[in-house]
Amino acid sequence: MKKNIVSQKVKEMRPSGIRAFFDLVLGMEDVISLGVGEPDFVTPWHIRESAIYSIEEGYTSYTSNKGLVKLRTYIAQNLKKRFGLKYDTNEEILVTVGVSEAIDLVMRAILNPGDKVLICSPSYVSYGPVAELAGGQAKFISLKPGNGFKLTPQDLKKNIDPDVKAILLNYPCNPTGVSYTKKELGALNSIIEKHDILVISDEVYDELTYDFDHTPFPTLPGARGRTVYLNGFSKAYAMTGWRVGFACGPKEVIQAMTKIHQYTIMCAPIVSQMAACEALVGPRKPIEEMKREYQRRREFVTSRLNEMGLSCHKPDGAFYAFPSIKKTGLSSGLFATRLLKSKKVAVVPGTAFGPEGEGYVRISYASGFDQLKEALSRMEEFIKKN
Ligand SMILES: Cc1ncc(COP(=O)(O)O)c(C=O)c1O
Repeated sequence: MKKNIVSQKVKEMRPSGIRAFFDLVLGMEDVISLGVGEPDFVTPWHIRESAIYSIEEGYTSYTSNKGLVKLRTYIAQNLKKRFGLKYDTNEEILVTVGVSEAIDLVMRAILNPGDKVLICSPSYVSYGPVAELAGGQAKFISLKPGNGFKLTPQDLKKNIDPDVKAILLNYPCNPTGVSYTKKELGALNSIIEKHDILVISDEVYDELTYDFDHTPFPTLPGARGRTVYLNGFSKAYAMTGWRVGFACGPKEVIQAMTKIHQYTIMCAPIVSQMAACEALVGPRKPIEEMKREYQRRREFVTSRLNEMGLSCHKPDGAFYAFPSIKKTGLSSGLFATRLLKSKKVAVVPGTAFGPEGEGYVRISYASGFDQLKEALSRMEEFIKKN
């Protein structure tokens, strides 16, 4: 094989901090993992059944590149019913292979070399590498624990320069669980509007918002025309393995994303799209029950963490707690490694989500209640000994 077979860009990509840590976990037995960002529930039965039925009926083909008309129609109807948001089924919605593909597509569709994308730090691990791979430049906005890891209008203003083309927002946030009220989003929107920046809004956890109503970014005044709204089925519907998501936004951007999607992916799997249809129009009870259970775990996890002296904001949404481990005097990496080795509990070092995560760890409460209980007791023992 030729030397330097791997491209320079890929060589320079930092491996995911989560992956590196979980390679350690793989070699160990009896570990309680609070590491993965994935529901512990299986997909509700009515959704699985509709997928089985669709196979029986012979749904085994490609679909339109944009996704099944039926699914796009349901997505449009759902957004209109929940938020009064209107999208044209044919031109403004694209069904993707998870929100992951949508993030990649939008970056590749809009970025020219040198264009910058603002990304909050800490943030979901894929944003930076995907922006860079698309030829753009990730410009990280450092969020401060003093502000509860919230993006403030001041921080936003400070980071805007003429090369900033887009900003990637994610709320409720992975890893901090932070979300924003309509008023807070309004203040950010005014600045974004003034500088005419495109918003890529990853709202994959929107249905898992616990204390106030979720406000989709495109519902803010004037924002619809310069927002690419991303959502999917992985989290609230416990459908990570089905790989379905979608992007809604201005025709010009959705068309550009579709161009890339048609050459690289063709379409999301038809059975998964059929299942997603059922998720949107089928019974809500199982979805609401999962949400209630996450909420119960949130109360338990945050109060246990604070009780043992690890200060932890109550997350507004998603299924992550992001406690400070500073009082142990250990770095995030050391804390996670030692906890794993001595107590067999896996949490993710905060630094996997950016340097601002130093002094924090991410705990996923998408884990059974008994497991959480046991893991937190082990963690308490660990802290007492350190
Ligand atoms: C913030 C965020 N965006 C996107 C994704 C990817 O979601 P999907 O399964 O729809 O690709 C995740 C998964 O953990 C996430 O946390």
